[in-house]
Amino acid sequence: MKGLILSGGKGTRLYPLTYTNAKQLIPVANKPVLVRVIDSIRDAGVEEIGVVIGQTGPQIREVLGDGSKWGVKLTYIPQESPDGLAHAVKISRDFLGDERFVMFLGDNVIQGGIGQLISDFAHSDWNSQIVLKEVENPSSYGVAKLRPDGSIEQLIEKPKNPPSNLALVGIYMFDPTIWEAVNSIKPSWRGELEITDAIQWLIDAGRSVYPHVHKGWWIDTGKPNDMLEANSLVLEELTPTISPEATIENSQVDRRVTVERGAKIINSTVRGPTIIGENTVIENSYVGPFTSIYYNVRVTNCEIERSIVLENSSLSDLGARVQDSLIGRYVSLQHSDEKPKTLKMNVGDHSSVSVV
Ligand code: DAU
Repeated sequence: MKGLILSGGKGTRLYPLTYTNAKQLIPVANKPVLVRVIDSIRDAGVEEIGVVIGQTGPQIREVLGDGSKWGVKLTYIPQESPDGLAHAVKISRDFLGDERFVMFLGDNVIQGGIGQLISDFAHSDWNSQIVLKEVENPSSYGVAKLRPDGSIEQLIEKPKNPPSNLALVGIYMFDPTIWEAVNSIKPSWRGELEITDAIQWLIDAGRSVYPHVHKGWWIDTGKPNDMLEANSLVLEELTPTISPEATIENSQVDRRVTVERGAKIINSTVRGPTIIGENTVIENSYVGPFTSIYYNVRVTNCEIERSIVLENSSLSDLGARVQDSLIGRYVSLQHSDEKPKTLKMNVGDHSSVSVV
């Protein structure tokens, strides 16, 4: 079996955080979502993986390289424009050949891995397996309507009036019957070749598509709120470790905190679940639960919680607690002398904000 990761598209919905960067490279608990996807596919025993890339391809190649760092072999498949998930499958034909494959959207994070799903598919004669999850806002996703016997009656992409609350998770398994499907469908109203339509085509053609309803959590990290939610969920599951090459001085660091190599925590309180990245310095500060601070960050005289701070940024002397915030790369946030207020920010790479 082969793997296919979809990492094209523009990532505009996370603007300004990903104005210049691939959304799939945003770290959740200090590990890019895309690397989490590779880990899940590899842990399920699939090592040959194609990665569909678009505009942000050069950054993705730079981070992932040939995959050997993660024990997989990567082949890059450039997609000229984001013409849809089924289009991405279509252009991967040479790489996939006639093998069965698992396709994983590069911005999805799922609890519990996909080992069981892959093994179920490998030992079945199903033409395809899809993954569904009950959600509160089904019209933001592909939606499945099941029959009373659990088989799929209908799949619709982002319906205004969803026929159920079962969303399509971005993990799909196919056999070679998918080729006829992707070559038969037409672009949707939004001009994309939808994988949802290709799977509906398989169903209409009498192929067997098995719907697995996922019970654990699942996050499509395409929206800022979802990033914070994903970050919290992943931090909850992280086994905390404190690097022997980290320095902790005169500080309270509770046991659910991970501190990476070269990090320094001085005169501070850090409450988990939280992760402090490589060479990051926390001084005279409070870092509260559900916070991920990436590498080379400086936090001085600040309070921060339930936030993500990307690399090479600095926060100093902020008079209010930073909360529920996504802070980009090379951001500088400083000073406030007014009453404490809660700050909510979605600050892009290379921004500079002075708080009054
Ligand atoms: O996350 C699950 C949802 O993903 C499903 O419920 C929907 O049925 C499915 O259509 C998809 O919807 P999104 O609107 O979230 O897809 P998005 O445009 O965000 O693309 C998902 C990933 O695929 C993302 O990593 C970018 C990549 N992509 C997207 C397109 C349109 C490509 O590589 N090529 C493309 O042409």
